[in-house]
Amino acid sequence: MPFVPASRGTIPPFMVMDMLRAANERAAAGDAVIHLDAGQPSTMAPKAVREAAQRALATDRLGYSDSGGLPGLKHAIARHCKKGYGVDVGGEEIVITTGSSAGFLLAFLASFETGDRVALASPGYPAYRNILAALGFVPVPIRVGPSSRYQLDIDMLRDAGPLKGVIVASPSNPTGSMIDRAISPRSIAGRSRWDLADLR
Ligand SMILES: Cc1ncc(COP(=O)(O)O)c(C=O)c1O
Repeated sequence: MPFVPASRGTIPPFMVMDMLRAANERAAAGDAVIHLDAGQPSTMAPKAVREAAQRALATDRLGYSDSGGLPGLKHAIARHCKKGYGVDVGGEEIVITTGSSAGFLLAFLASFETGDRVALASPGYPAYRNILAALGFVPVPIRVGPSSRYQLDIDMLRDAGPLKGVIVASPSNPTGSMIDRAISPRSIAGRSRWDLADLR
């Protein structure tokens, strides 16, 4: 039987990765390249983190941990959320993933059913749109501009038709804009669900 790729294969590529590869090829060929493609860290990991990683590599068997992550790490992150953002979250509510991409993949799967419509700002981070579509959800891109500081506002959401979810990125990519204090993590804390009216 011939191989027929699934329809999610038609989802557009994440073009920044194509740009990064092309730039790396030119750098490997000796061209001087200034990267304006993927955002990369500008510093090394903190010294304490590098030392702990070296110690673990030298001494640990590095087997499986709990699937949600090491309990000590989860509770340390919960303390950080409290100290840094004033958000009360239990360590057992934290899930450790490799990068935020795996985190939003799990969050989307936990939150939406096939066909659910999910709003997101456009321009915005393309992977949100592509992952939603690949999972069978319906991304609803909403054009944003300087009048809303490149973030979604309540009127845009009301005009978007029935929605099951809204993705709020702060800072947003590629604009770098931040959400208002009125809907900061501190105000989101403790809410099990958000109605559109809450955004007012
Ligand atoms: C807004 C936004 N969300 C998510 C990600 C993905 O982050 P990670 O590399 O941690 O998966 C990026 C990466 O650029 C981003 O800009």
